[in-house]
Amino acid sequence: MRDVIVAANWKMHTTPADAGDLASTVASRTREAGVTRVICPPYVALAAVRDALAETDPDVAVGAQNVHHELAGAHTGEIAAPMLAGLASWVIVGHSERRRDAAETDELIGRKLARALEAGLRPILCVGEQLAEREAGRATDVVDAQLRGALADHDPAAAASGRLVIAYEPVWAIGTGRNATGADASAMADAIRASLGALGWGETADATPILYGGSVTSANIGEFLAEPSIDGALVGGASLKPDEMAGIVARAGITARARGLAG
Ligand code: PGA
Repeated sequence: MRDVIVAANWKMHTTPADAGDLASTVASRTREAGVTRVICPPYVALAAVRDALAETDPDVAVGAQNVHHELAGAHTGEIAAPMLAGLASWVIVGHSERRRDAAETDELIGRKLARALEAGLRPILCVGEQLAEREAGRATDVVDAQLRGALADHDPAAAASGRLVIAYEPVWAIGTGRNATGADASAMADAIRASLGALGWGETADATPILYGGSVTSANIGEFLAEPSIDGALVGGASLKPDEMAGIVARAGITARARGLAG
């Protein structure tokens, strides 16, 4: 049975001074058997979050929001995968805000993914279409192209042993309060697994967790987790609110119990 995962993407929020307290509060309010929890703070708050969680709840994993595609070198301001050792065990790769702000391409994202897997970081690869692409009926083609671009050079076995997670995040739903429907997210999850199958992933396609992301709240998480093809959520805005996270993870706990993961 696939893991049930709730990952918090704090984006460019919190400081090293306040991140530890927030992580501890969220951790203590989201203890739910069988749910894999991940908190992804800004780089500068990774150590504070790691230390706080070591005290309050070591079961909550720490993730970075990005990683560089090279191992070292003249890349001012960047962070390489080996530098995250001891700070993070997960990493978000290819978030649409980085595709937009840092002009990340699918090919570059594929290289980031390789560095993450080599470093033993569990990657969350983000894919998702723009509104105009969905309206033009091209959503699944766009996501398929993103997957091919990022994964073409990857050995499915390596991605499987690195326990790759995919987050379907329609760009028009991120931070807008306008979430996709559960049915649309589920249809896309099926399409993603079909794309992985076409890339030669075989059974690994079915074993790969797929999260939904885009304006997830405690009020709408149930719609996504009611879909057997959806394995959790990547949460942005609501992840900074302990009440919201408590509700989201509580709902994820129901799915984890139904999947027999809680025992
Ligand atoms: P949102 O962000 O929940 O604020 O829409 C999700 C994400 O960008 O991962």
